[in-house]
Amino acid sequence: MSDSYKFKHHGVDDTTNTCANPALSEVLEARFSRRGLLQGGSALGIAGVLSGSFATLAEAASVPFAKKAPQLGFKPVPFGFEDKVVVPEGYSADVLYAWGDPVGIAGKMPAFRQDASNTAAEQAVQAGMHHDGMSYFPLPLAATGSKHGLLAMNHEYTDDGLLHVGGMKPWTGDKVLKSQHAHGVSVIEVEATGKGWQVVRPSKYARRIHVNTPMTISGPARGHKLMRTEADPQGVEILGTLNNCANGQTPWGTYLTCEENWDGYFVNDSGTLSANEKRYGINNKGAGYNWAKEDFRFDLQLNPNEANRFGWVVEIDPFDPASKPVKHTALGRIKHEGATVTIAPSGHAVVYMGDDQRFEYIYKFVSRNKYNAKNRKANMGLLSEGTLYVARFDADGAGQWLPLVHGQNGLTADNGFADQGEVVIMARMAADKLGATKMDRPEWVAVNPRVPGEVYCTLTNNSDRGKDGKPGIDAANPRNKNLFGHIIRWHEQGGDAAATAFKWDIFVLAGRPDADKQEHVGNIKGDVFGSPDGLTFDHNGVLWVQTDVSTSTVNMKEYKGMGNNQMVAVVPESGEFRRFLTGPHGCEITGLAFTPDNKTMFVNIQHPGEPDSERNDPAKPTAVSTWPDGPNAGRPRAGTVVVRKLNGGVIGS
Ligand code: FEO
Ligand code: CA
Ligand code: CA
Repeated sequence: MSDSYKFKHHGVDDTTNTCANPALSEVLEARFSRRGLLQGGSALGIAGVLSGSFATLAEAASVPFAKKAPQLGFKPVPFGFEDKVVVPEGYSADVLYAWGDPVGIAGKMPAFRQDASNTAAEQAVQAGMHHDGMSYFPLPLAATGSKHGLLAMNHEYTDDGLLHVGGMKPWTGDKVLKSQHAHGVSVIEVEATGKGWQVVRPSKYARRIHVNTPMTISGPARGHKLMRTEADPQGVEILGTLNNCANGQTPWGTYLTCEENWDGYFVNDSGTLSANEKRYGINNKGAGYNWAKEDFRFDLQLNPNEANRFGWVVEIDPFDPASKPVKHTALGRIKHEGATVTIAPSGHAVVYMGDDQRFEYIYKFVSRNKYNAKNRKANMGLLSEGTLYVARFDADGAGQWLPLVHGQNGLTADNGFADQGEVVIMARMAADKLGATKMDRPEWVAVNPRVPGEVYCTLTNNSDRGKDGKPGIDAANPRNKNLFGHIIRWHEQGGDAAATAFKWDIFVLAGRPDADKQEHVGNIKGDVFGSPDGLTFDHNGVLWVQTDVSTSTVNMKEYKGMGNNQMVAVVPESGEFRRFLTGPHGCEITGLAFTPDNKTMFVNIQHPGEPDSERNDPAKPTAVSTWPDGPNAGRPRAGTVVVRKLNGGVIGS
């Protein structure tokens, strides 16, 4: 590619956390699977859950609470080296919705053109690129069926080498617009038919949300002076969402989409960066999207506050295509991976969130008001008011949620936080001040449906741990040069998601037993993997782990022989990992949703065919992969795959 620097959407190559939080380097012992402790907590068990406010839309849509731990019944698949999706014997995997497929808006259903000649206007009504987090909502609203529903899904970023005829040469305003339209969210209507699952077209629900879709601002930063721009002098409305990574699903039937590496779209080449800009990784060239050259909204010299308007969790009502998405500033401005929602026994909504960069933090939000299972509308403001916390993992296996509240614990005007608006806009800096624990890239969070208050988070990797004066190991991040990542688990005090204290352990250290170096061996029981990222419990309590080994590493170097990215399943009680799916060449596996009967799994294949540079050469778009269209493909396409058991049984059983 012609750019003078390598395009890297992830933005994880830099560490922007240089604060001097407790290094915990005095820690002597890493903590592995202190099962006894957690089982003590689990004994609170089922009764606690049933007496809480779990009679929610999402829970109602799930199978009755499984009393016994589920068991994995499938034969694991080997490492994957082929350019296809592989699932166990007795399962099928069919492509449902790939980049460029029409979303299904009546009268606006342009077909995908394999030469990438669809226009920006057409892209605005077609599937975006690089599918990511995804949720399934049974139709109609509050139903519990498993044959007809909505899928809301993210389109995280673009490969502009594949997106346009001729790639990025020449670079034009139309190409910027097409790239913007290929980001964001799709809402599609899907139905199980005699010919398998199909996208319903046209559909009154079909919708695309992208970088130019108007959104409301809620919470402490609404109207704040740091949120005001020339185009929005009141600081109340933002155009669009981008780099939509993982997701969340609320019990009241809304979809949460999370803005991750948003810094890479902005450019400030004034020669002077503010502390805020530096802390979030903004620089003078961005990540290579080159929007600022054509769309001055992304030029921070001209629009200095525009970057404050990204880095949020956005709530979307998929049942109402006319509804305006809401950016919830109460949940803090970070590089949001996902937003996993649960309801505490007290009825408060709790949202767990990872900030995916090296040495960043894990957050949670607890709503001020309580969830109302009988009044959907009353819940629409639940995420606008509440307390944001950041996690500190102590060496003795205890942990604390530290409140990011203006006026408390040094979050004062004297220390650079004029009000709660500034605390949430500069949430990373507020978290620095509180002494949060610097983690190995927090990705997805999953809440165990069978054990109240038990929560898991993937820490995908951190090759900088212990390197060149960067923070070394601590109890929660126990390996220097952590190339394979780990999964941490905590148990909220009293099984209460709203608690401010927890106990934690390390559920698993990823790695491979045949590694040369001890730090890459890990302690996986069963099928091995590295770089865990996507993480979701199904309705029965099986935990599914999706991997994101970067294209510069996959099946190479320390990962040589491990093949393409993959998905494994584990039942926490047994701890045995079993490989369920492997993807095509150059892809990441990310995004996962189940129907309430757990008999259909929707899984996303992101960036098939991605080369090491993360951008294809437009002259050779099928150099790495032709998935999913095969020999006649003009280019590879991200896609949603439907996985079923051929005998119609429960997935994983
Ligand atoms: Fe978009 Fe951290 O993965
Ligand atoms: Ca991810
Ligand atoms: Ca990742």
